[in-house]
Amino acid sequence: MQVDGFSLEVSPRPTVDAAGAAAIARELYGVEGPVVELGSQQDRNFRIDTCAGRVVLKVANPGWGVAALEAQNAALTHLATHHPDLVAPVPRAGLDGRLLYEVPDGAGTVLVRLLTYVEGTPLTGARRLAPEVVADLGRLSARVCSALTTFDHAGLDRATQWDLRRAVAVVPQLLGSVGDPVRRDVVADAAAVASARLAEVAARLRVGPIHGDLTDDNVVGSRDEAGRVRPDAVIDFGDLSRSWLVGDLAVTCSSVLRYPGHELTDLLPAVRAFHAVVPLTDDEIAALWPLLVLRGAVLVVSTEHQLALDPGNADLAEPLEGEWRILESARAVDLDLAQSLLRAGLGLPVGERHAAALGVARSATPMLSTGPGGTSVTSVTSVTSVTSATPGTPVTPVTSVVDLSVTSPLLHSGRFLEPEVEHDVLREAARPRGSAATRWGEARLTRTRLDSIVAPETIALGTQVVAQEGSLVVSPLAGIVSREADSGFRLVHETGLNLVVRGISLSGDVADGEHVEAGSPLGVFTTESAHLQWCVSPQLDPPAFALPSTAEGWLALCPDPSPLLGVDVAAPRPDPADLLRRRRRALASVQESYYEQPMRIERGWRHHLVDIEGRAYVDMVNNVAAIGHAHPRLADAVERQLRTLNTNSRFHYAAIAEFSERLAGLAPEGLDQVFLVNSGSEAVDLALRMAQTVTGRQDVVAVREAYHGWTALSDAVTTSLYDNPSALDSRPEWVHLTSAPNAYRGRFRGPSSGADYAAEVRELIDGLVERGRPPAAYVCEPLLGNAGGVFLPDGYLTAAYDAVRAAGGLAVADEVQVGYGRTGRWWWAFERSGVVPDVVTVAKAMGNGHPLGAVITTREIADAFGAAGSFFSSAGGSPVSCVTGMTVLDVIQDEGLQANAVAVGDHLVEGLTALMARHSVIGAVHGTGLYLGVELVRDRETLEPAGAECAAICERLRELGVIVQPTGERANVLKLKPPMCLTLGSADVVLHALDAVLTEGW
Ligand SMILES: Cc1ncc(COP(=O)(O)O)c(C=O)c1O
Repeated sequence: MQVDGFSLEVSPRPTVDAAGAAAIARELYGVEGPVVELGSQQDRNFRIDTCAGRVVLKVANPGWGVAALEAQNAALTHLATHHPDLVAPVPRAGLDGRLLYEVPDGAGTVLVRLLTYVEGTPLTGARRLAPEVVADLGRLSARVCSALTTFDHAGLDRATQWDLRRAVAVVPQLLGSVGDPVRRDVVADAAAVASARLAEVAARLRVGPIHGDLTDDNVVGSRDEAGRVRPDAVIDFGDLSRSWLVGDLAVTCSSVLRYPGHELTDLLPAVRAFHAVVPLTDDEIAALWPLLVLRGAVLVVSTEHQLALDPGNADLAEPLEGEWRILESARAVDLDLAQSLLRAGLGLPVGERHAAALGVARSATPMLSTGPGGTSVTSVTSVTSVTSATPGTPVTPVTSVVDLSVTSPLLHSGRFLEPEVEHDVLREAARPRGSAATRWGEARLTRTRLDSIVAPETIALGTQVVAQEGSLVVSPLAGIVSREADSGFRLVHETGLNLVVRGISLSGDVADGEHVEAGSPLGVFTTESAHLQWCVSPQLDPPAFALPSTAEGWLALCPDPSPLLGVDVAAPRPDPADLLRRRRRALASVQESYYEQPMRIERGWRHHLVDIEGRAYVDMVNNVAAIGHAHPRLADAVERQLRTLNTNSRFHYAAIAEFSERLAGLAPEGLDQVFLVNSGSEAVDLALRMAQTVTGRQDVVAVREAYHGWTALSDAVTTSLYDNPSALDSRPEWVHLTSAPNAYRGRFRGPSSGADYAAEVRELIDGLVERGRPPAAYVCEPLLGNAGGVFLPDGYLTAAYDAVRAAGGLAVADEVQVGYGRTGRWWWAFERSGVVPDVVTVAKAMGNGHPLGAVITTREIADAFGAAGSFFSSAGGSPVSCVTGMTVLDVIQDEGLQANAVAVGDHLVEGLTALMARHSVIGAVHGTGLYLGVELVRDRETLEPAGAECAAICERLRELGVIVQPTGERANVLKLKPPMCLTLGSADVVLHALDAVLTEGW
């Protein structure tokens, strides 16, 4: 449709005030009630709370035109009639049955309507829109769009500046209002480029009734469990018109780009959700980004125009800033790239736009010529695999394609962090006389960034090649060559395909701008290595590496360079979704994974984990990896021992004697007998069985809200509802529960609550004794691990131990989580309470991930247990386990990790306490050393747990490169129990990320 002029809807607002609105409502509609004026830029809207419900009196200036308002009323009636599930205002008829009235206002008239009021919370206020919310917006936009396809009205055909079909005319016409000449040029250029691209598909875009302004401002919703507003209702239809359907999506997307930091990938949830309801055509996908640029341009010039008319209007400054952000973010993305990313984001093949160029890239001639001394890449291996050429004779040279991925065996022991590692690995692979190349499309571990809240660009868009010095370089296709500044050249084919080569200089025989044929010599390899990268679009200047989130789009524009080398250098693109499906199909689902959509973690290094895309995370959950992930000293020791001997503990070998001695030496005086097992569950199980055997009793006193393991006995005393919602109803009758001694939110509160909790333990034990069932043991974690490291109140543990011992039972300390130096100031957490237990269980940190556990007790108890039968664990205390255990102890000592837990733990506590002063959701900071809990509450008085918020915060922290998980009975505690090698720098990253998440809201 040919569209020409447009009207600028900036006529003055009606003058009707609240009293006038009340009078109009009473006289025309017969409704009464308190009147509150709602905001509106061009109209006046009043909410009236009538006894029959809330309504909105909308007073529009006549610039709208009767037909447009009638169309809005008709559309709303259409939605209410045919799409009642779509929540939107419904027009209310006046006393004489009409839906629209013209009433006097000052010297003129205004148009009046009454609509039902849509209840809900506006989106405004959030500093960032969560992906779910962005998807909600896209879905809502599509639902309205879809519902309107069966609607029509003459009033839809409006000539407004907001109709994106007119943007091409609107922008130049209002451009003069942009005072700053540089910014004016920015708008003009962006609009011109977008208009040109749009023109290619405009004629084929679907046209129909559209909402025209389905943005974050025009929707309301309700809060989900995490407190996020989830938009599910549309409140304003003032821009209803006939236009391009895809324009509605562009407008919705533009409102997402308004938020600082949002970019194309943040829009994808909206685009996907829209596409799921209203499938977009190829042309519409191609038009989307140009339309977004134009939407940004129209917004900017319109507001600048209004400001020019009304220079003092401070209310326009803030929207204008957001509108510039939309334009800047939209124009920052090349249109080819945008289309490629959008299509990839929708799971669609990346279009035919560059089909010719892609075809040429696929059939290119290898660049490194075979011949005397020449090489080409022909084999794929992750390690060096080279056969050398005999100088001066024609050869079939063989070389390697190196693996720099996250799983590469070439990058162990932190080698991936060495500055020259890529070149070093390439050179090694090419040794002695071959050549080697890196992989295209690979997420390179070498490009990861530790301690970064920003995801790194890890995906290689080209290949780095090492060839034998003097190798001949020939042109892979016919095209024009030109020299590039940094000893490289570019070769451009007539299809637009261009090859960017860095590190190879054109020979003097080749002139700048010369047309060369495929196979013609261009130069020789004289440098260390060269970088080869295709790009199908001459306008683009692609980076060498892309973010994983944009990789599919970029890889489609920078295709596989394998033909340039004559060997496959394309890295396999892992499909994380498929792997997850396989896991979920084969692994019993009760063995849950962290996160709904877990990242695939394939490397650990110190206190960092790296996912398969090369994103590094600060690991704040792995207390098992106490000395850090992939510790070389441990790996070497275990490997050595595995190659030497691994057998069972009934044989006599040095490691078991030495390790047992060392463990006993770490325990308090008198606890000198060690049992070696494979896990914490086994250790607790054995400890309880020992207590039952030694005392000849069965009953055990356990603490509520605790986790002790999965074996029969350790599970019997596991009372945490977080781990087992029916735990309290399913305990065996010999397990007797006492309150979790949590002075923050437990049955008794405050620093002096220890006596009350102890009295409860005493009463319980006295009662058991009275019933003739004195307990065999009292078992407790000396720091409430499950609750996030909550300290036991003063005096509690001493009194509880006294009570159980007075009744002839044993005191069992479960140090599986909180022991082994993690608390920093003590090796065992029970030391803080000044007590010595009868039996200690330990595991987790002991083996740094290798299955290792132990029970340490007195000779008297051990002997009494032994008298009742033998004890043997096949792998418990094996040579490999003992060597593992001793190496862990050596590392903790040699690297000062216990002292580090104090230094970094104190730093974290200080930082978290400072955050608590600024973020009311932090109710308490528990724990000490590197066993900390940040308890989140909705109200510091009622302590209402902020469980859903905790989950949302963990999700967002993950995006910022920090792994934290919710814990505690109410899942409202961020548990911080990182490897003990956590650095101050990483702790600062965690604090910074948490601050950012709490500040931006969830
Ligand atoms: C306090 C406590 N005891 C025992 C266990 C069981 O240890 P494992 O998982 O090694 O069997 C755990 C595990 O989380 C624990 O936290």
